[in-house]
Amino acid sequence: MGNIKDLLKDKVIVISGGTKGVGKGVAVEAARQGADVVISGRDAEAAEKVLKEIENAGRQGHFVKLNLRNPEDCARLFDEAMEKFGRVDGFLNYAGTTPANSLEEENPEQFDAVFDINVKAAFFCAQNAIRCMKKSGGGSIVMIGSPHSWCGEKDRVAYAVSKGALFTLTEHIAHHYAQDGIRANFLTMGWTPTEGELALRATQGMDPEQTRAFAAKFIPAGRMTEVEDLVPGILYLLSDYASMTIGANLRITGGLYF
Ligand SMILES: NC(=O)c1ccc[n+]([C@@H]2O[C@H](COP(=O)([O-])OP(=O)(O)OC[C@H]3O[C@@H](n4cnc5c(N)ncnc54)[C@H](OP(=O)(O)O)[C@@H]3O)[C@@H](O)[C@H]2O)c1
Repeated sequence: MGNIKDLLKDKVIVISGGTKGVGKGVAVEAARQGADVVISGRDAEAAEKVLKEIENAGRQGHFVKLNLRNPEDCARLFDEAMEKFGRVDGFLNYAGTTPANSLEEENPEQFDAVFDINVKAAFFCAQNAIRCMKKSGGGSIVMIGSPHSWCGEKDRVAYAVSKGALFTLTEHIAHHYAQDGIRANFLTMGWTPTEGELALRATQGMDPEQTRAFAAKFIPAGRMTEVEDLVPGILYLLSDYASMTIGANLRITGGLYF
């Protein structure tokens, strides 16, 4: 990130889903900016590589292997962060899932899979983040939203509704916990060629180049959002520069709306 230095000096940042995509990008850049970082997910091999990059940046990392569909795992993520580092200053709620289905075709199993991760895990991670941040003297929670949060494409209904619920959760925390020094903000993330997005598009017969060209047609800025476009905004929201930024919706989408 250019010449900016020590934006997150000695902070402890916890990330749900720090093994891939923007979560991974934030984990590594947060370490370069002086933070110790707790990452989480199911993929231990991918986590190992992220931990190496955190160490190369001169900071400590810790991986919590978990399945966010279990609320006990949400508690364990923060328990391990407190055990290892003694405090939690920031929480990035990145993990999510984006299967496709219309309202007429959606089934209860897929609906539950989407809500278990995008809403229930976010809810119980936020509960535990607040518990730890109260002991740490405050903190910053960043929820990753989507342009789908307000209406959504026709074949993303459960996803769109889950991100709408996440927006309300963010507003709730922002309004009711600012007095505890805990800030919450929503980051509307643009259409980004992460591992998850590219895997979804591969099932629809598109390779990464085709995905980029297809997406570019819908995005006013004329290209997909890249991980590097998103990381600085997220780091800002996690940092003390955003002390008075509470309940914001920071759109980094290249102008994309649904
Ligand atoms: N890509 C886009 O265009 C886009 C646009 C707007 C918003 N978003 C949001 O960005 C976030 C990431 O989505 P993505 O599709 O782009 O994926 P991604 O970068 O591939 O990352 C998904 C992350 O979530 C973790 N995860 C998923 N299910 C989990 C579970 N059950 N337990 C633990 N960790 C789990 C994964 O960890 P493991 O693989 O290690 O389990 C991975 O680190 C989501 O919140 C999504 O709504 C994405």
